[in-house]
Amino acid sequence: MNKEQKSFHGSRRKEFSRLIGRDSIALIFGSTHRNKSYDGDYKFKQYKNFYYLTGFEEANSALMLAPGGIKLKSEKNDITANEILFVQKKDQMMETWNGKRVGYQNVKNELGIENARENKDLSFYLNSKFLSRFRKLYVNLGEMLKLSGDMETIITPFLNMLNITAPHVEIIDASYLLGTMRFVKTPFEIKKIKNAADVSTSAYYETLNSIYPGMNEFNVQSVLEFYYRFHGGDDIAYHPIVAAGENACILHYQNNDQHLENGDLLLIDSASEYNYYCSDITRTFPVNGKFTDEQKLIYEIVLKANKECIKKIRPGVKFSYINQLSEKVLADGLFDAGILKDKKNIKKYSLHGVGHHIGLDTHDAVPSAKTGVSDFDTLKEGNVITIEPGLYFTKNMKEIPLKLRGTGVRIEDDILVTRNGCLNLTEDMIKEVTEIEDAMKENDSDL
Ligand code: GLY
Ligand code: MN
Ligand code: MN
Repeated sequence: MNKEQKSFHGSRRKEFSRLIGRDSIALIFGSTHRNKSYDGDYKFKQYKNFYYLTGFEEANSALMLAPGGIKLKSEKNDITANEILFVQKKDQMMETWNGKRVGYQNVKNELGIENARENKDLSFYLNSKFLSRFRKLYVNLGEMLKLSGDMETIITPFLNMLNITAPHVEIIDASYLLGTMRFVKTPFEIKKIKNAADVSTSAYYETLNSIYPGMNEFNVQSVLEFYYRFHGGDDIAYHPIVAAGENACILHYQNNDQHLENGDLLLIDSASEYNYYCSDITRTFPVNGKFTDEQKLIYEIVLKANKECIKKIRPGVKFSYINQLSEKVLADGLFDAGILKDKKNIKKYSLHGVGHHIGLDTHDAVPSAKTGVSDFDTLKEGNVITIEPGLYFTKNMKEIPLKLRGTGVRIEDDILVTRNGCLNLTEDMIKEVTEIEDAMKENDSDL
């Protein structure tokens, strides 16, 4: 890990420790392997909160933070520790089969985390005698309950203990507090998101020229994903939506297995991840390279909403206001075109909110489930959000002109809130009608 990474993750541990205070202890678990079938696992993916605090990608790990210090047994004499990373034991055979393990002796040097132990040593701390010295215990609860393998075994006595003799310690889900930290991105994080957005943008350009009627949605998906990897993206940010025709009206369409019909639109909501940071992009293209007049009309209304919303983004503005603005532009556009009789009905066709925060998660800094309102509504410098208005007309909407039924349009950009306004991180991504038609002119649309 380089100096910049060590410094970023170290600063996150420091800030989290400051927030929880000296009478608290935090235990943030990393992810464990998930079985896919028989003896094969899904590709390992680290939990994002754990990654945020450590930058460490190995399975079966946990981070303990004790801002007030705890005694840690050491070979020579006991020491006072504020941060301990618990990691997998070095194991020659396991490393031959599955890859290198850092080993606790190398953690300080490799990751810059002060102290480390083998993960089995965690058992020593997961008991009421140790924990009841603290007022609060912060844990990534939801993630902890999904641990498998050795880590599940290690935490089981702890979970049983909570049922029987819970210590006098308040147990708090750490995810919300970490969410408040993750709300504002540092320059280090913004660079990663920008990188992810650039990888995605390049891949979309390369894919645009391989779209033609008759191919399958999964062909388009495979070209995109080839180019994500080719350009240095290390994962997809989310399962891609490659939706032709009416499939675009299924907001989280997953199958991606239908043919692209001549005359239809193709909605692509797909993006790359880079060093665990997400981009999130949607574009809508005509399958044969040319919009019909009706498609163009709808596309231009959505594009107007996208642009008007982006213009208003700056610190202090409420996301809920941007949402209202988007609905207003969409409603006005459809009303003026004679498609919508009553503007109050816009939600039937706009379906979803105008956007969300992005970062380590595609849906980042989400509203508190406790309050039901968005605690992250007022935009701040360093926020990164999506702006993604859309309009969707299913085939059974008899009130909609026939030529528009079975059509979905969404245009999604990633926007950084800056000190005085905003910066579109997906600025280079094609989105004007004429640009798209020009770029697709050479496509072989006779197939
Ligand atoms: N790709 C998921 C979303 O746009 O929210
Ligand atoms: Mn989105
Ligand atoms: Mn999206």
